[in-house]
Amino acid sequence: MSLIEVRDLTKDYRLNVKKRGLLGAVQSLLVPEYKLKRAVDNINFSIEKGEMVGFIGPNGAGKSTTVKMLTGILSPTSGSIMMGGLSPHKDRKKNASRIGAVFGQRTQLWWDLPVADTYDLLRYIYRIPEKKFEQNMEMFNDLLGIQEFMSQPVRQLSLGQRMRADIAAALLHDPEIVFFDEPTIGLDVVAKEKIREFIKKINAEKNTTMLFTTHDMLDIEKTCKRMIIIDQGTIIYNGTVEQIKERYGRSRTLVAEFAQKLDRIDLPAGVELIDQKDNKKYLKFNRDEIQVSGLIAELTSKYNILDLTVTEPEVEAIIREIYEGGIDFDKGISGDSKKSLSEQYCVPC
Ligand SMILES: Nc1ncnc2c1ncn2[C@@H]1O[C@H](COP(=O)(O)OP(=O)(O)OP(=O)(O)O)[C@@H](O)[C@H]1O
Ligand SMILES: [Mg+2]
Repeated sequence: MSLIEVRDLTKDYRLNVKKRGLLGAVQSLLVPEYKLKRAVDNINFSIEKGEMVGFIGPNGAGKSTTVKMLTGILSPTSGSIMMGGLSPHKDRKKNASRIGAVFGQRTQLWWDLPVADTYDLLRYIYRIPEKKFEQNMEMFNDLLGIQEFMSQPVRQLSLGQRMRADIAAALLHDPEIVFFDEPTIGLDVVAKEKIREFIKKINAEKNTTMLFTTHDMLDIEKTCKRMIIIDQGTIIYNGTVEQIKERYGRSRTLVAEFAQKLDRIDLPAGVELIDQKDNKKYLKFNRDEIQVSGLIAELTSKYNILDLTVTEPEVEAIIREIYEGGIDFDKGISGDSKKSLSEQYCVPC
């Protein structure tokens, strides 16, 4: 049995339909009208102990709602979550010491207190032994540099400092499972890298199980082996980052720099000119249909070429295409598979 087991999980929000105008406001008050919004629609997945899983999807896909149910903040409309034998919602108190959560968009620190006081309070709440507390504070300071702002009230911290302080607070009690909901949102590249390194180190050293939600694909590529993609409340991909590259990243771009500027160029069937700049031309092809060595041989026999490079699509470009609906899940890019993406890569329930 996996550490986290999510089965047929659904969450409906009840929205109060407000009517316009004064009469409408009175009507809404007297006879309230509601409609349901399904944010998470019958999802299934499992996470093993020590795994670090990326949880991604476009805005409004249902990521935060899922994380809130996993942490026990929200109760599911139907379905179940089991976390090492406990239900986060029903066994909220018992589960609290085993989990940690970072919500990048909202701090969990005491706004007016100095950061150090928040940590003292957490030590008391979680009954963290003195030695463990000191060891963790030292480690977090080495990795996240929290000492520099320990005496400042949280409201005075910069976004990057606040995020580091929040992450340290969530991990202070050595939780077995940590949920990160956009922990790198709004941070500069150096700060993001610091947080990724920290997360990786904690996962490796403490074997902490982690679910990582982000809109930055580099976060996922650099930290997670597996990712789950959710769209409109439904899981559309559950598999490794490598698999998605292998399966859906089959296009290649050959950048050819010619000795002179060419107005037109003869290309073999299946090769598309996608861009050109000065003497450079960007040629896109499917690596399953066209051999790069053959394409290079053909071009060099016809033209005087100074330089050639082949690039593969980044995961971000593949994901963007998935979000935009450009990838046909039934066929894939090359159209050779009859299986749907979810059939191929979703972990069997
Ligand atoms: N408290 C709420 N009441 C009503 N609807 C909500 C509530 N919270 C979220 N929703 C709706 O549920 C859907 C999923 O929202 P959720 O916050 O889970 O998305 P998300 O994937 O985290 O998006 P983002 O990437 O923008 O953070 C959205 O349509 C949102 O409007
Ligand atoms: Mg969210």
